[in-house]
Amino acid sequence: MNVHDSEKMSGALKSEGYIETDDPKGADIIIFNTCSIREKAEQKFFSKLGRLKSLKKRKPSLKIAVAGCIAQQEREKIFQRTPYIDCVIGPQNLHLLAGLTRIQGHAVACDENPSLAEADFDIDRKDRIKAWVTIMYGCDNYCSYCIVPYTRGREKSRPSEKIISEIEGLAREGFKEITLLGQNVNSYRSDIDFTGLLQRINNISGIERIRFVTSHPKDISVDLIFAMRNLHKVCQHIHLPLQSGSSRILHLMNRKYSYEDYLRKIEILRNVMPDISITSDIIAGFPQETDKDHSLTIRGLKEIAFDGIFAFNYSPRVGTRAAELSGHVEDDVKSERLYEILDVQNAITDMKNKALVDTIQEVLLEPSGIKGNSKLTGRTRSNKIVNMPVYVQPGSSDLVRVRIVKAHRHSLDGIIQK
Ligand code: 5AD
Ligand code: SF4
Repeated sequence: MNVHDSEKMSGALKSEGYIETDDPKGADIIIFNTCSIREKAEQKFFSKLGRLKSLKKRKPSLKIAVAGCIAQQEREKIFQRTPYIDCVIGPQNLHLLAGLTRIQGHAVACDENPSLAEADFDIDRKDRIKAWVTIMYGCDNYCSYCIVPYTRGREKSRPSEKIISEIEGLAREGFKEITLLGQNVNSYRSDIDFTGLLQRINNISGIERIRFVTSHPKDISVDLIFAMRNLHKVCQHIHLPLQSGSSRILHLMNRKYSYEDYLRKIEILRNVMPDISITSDIIAGFPQETDKDHSLTIRGLKEIAFDGIFAFNYSPRVGTRAAELSGHVEDDVKSERLYEILDVQNAITDMKNKALVDTIQEVLLEPSGIKGNSKLTGRTRSNKIVNMPVYVQPGSSDLVRVRIVKAHRHSLDGIIQK
């Protein structure tokens, strides 16, 4: 989502005549697009920002803007700590960026924006084949650990006709893969629901693959599961964050499902689509998590056997309910649990990838792969990375059939089939 927000900010400035540079010393404006989901991301930003202080001293006309979730949280407070910042712009106000950079002195745009879903953006897309498309903004779920509802605001769905016409435009430009973006895409609602939206997009000619992130386990319906199977452009991959294998912890997290509820959804998904790839997010060391709770997460990982996970140490976020809970887990205990989670999952990921050896997969080549001047690389429909030797030229299509010949933990090796 942040990467796509950057494409929107870049588009806004390019339409004002700005050009992009890799050299901070030559820049008139430097924008930090920040993330505050965990403390580490925040620390990274403040240390990078500190390095620009001297640059600003030497070139006072340089504008430094802070965008994203740290901007939204800190608002004008950020000027006290780092007065050399010029603009602070929250994720709901990206359309104001160009105007903001023209203001002399400190400028702030962090108000809740009720008409965000109606906004149109000039998007400076960095990829020519795959495109992100926002279908909804914000989140109303208030998982107790999560800062997103406070920074990205209330859930708002974009009108379906705006989404459809954006994707039709992308198809005309030659894009092949669309990833629909929202914090909780399954609760998309406009004149149609999420399943209806997938059906409409499936009919757009030129688009070959449809993906979506992120799904909330409580909202994934049987309807959607059958649509994933029946709509041939929808990739059979779902990112479905579990967060914990302990129903007690899930309750404290305000996730609104038990481990058993989650498991039932997985069973339906796999009954309907035996080859579906399922990935997840896990949090280690949520407040009050005991060794028993942790062992339930380990049991869950083994029982479910995800294709891959992202796992994180719990990071307290000021203003969230979990931060106020008693019984915070020591950092070294969190890390120990995280290592065990990753260890268990690594073995499962290896096994899942090995099972793909000798299968034929459809791979969408990355643009660098199509040129064939370095290695060929692309992704399967299940979103796994495949590397292919350069001596096999793929021809004119960017969709190729590939025999998997070797499995690694984070990628597969393959040979393009004639
Ligand atoms: N601490 C650790 N992980 C978090 N996530 C969200 N908030 C926190 C937090 N405070 C994780 C969740 C979510 C993913 C995007 O980030 O697992 O699914
Ligand atoms: Fe955060 Fe929960 Fe919303 Fe995801 S669903 S963005 S974890 S509050």
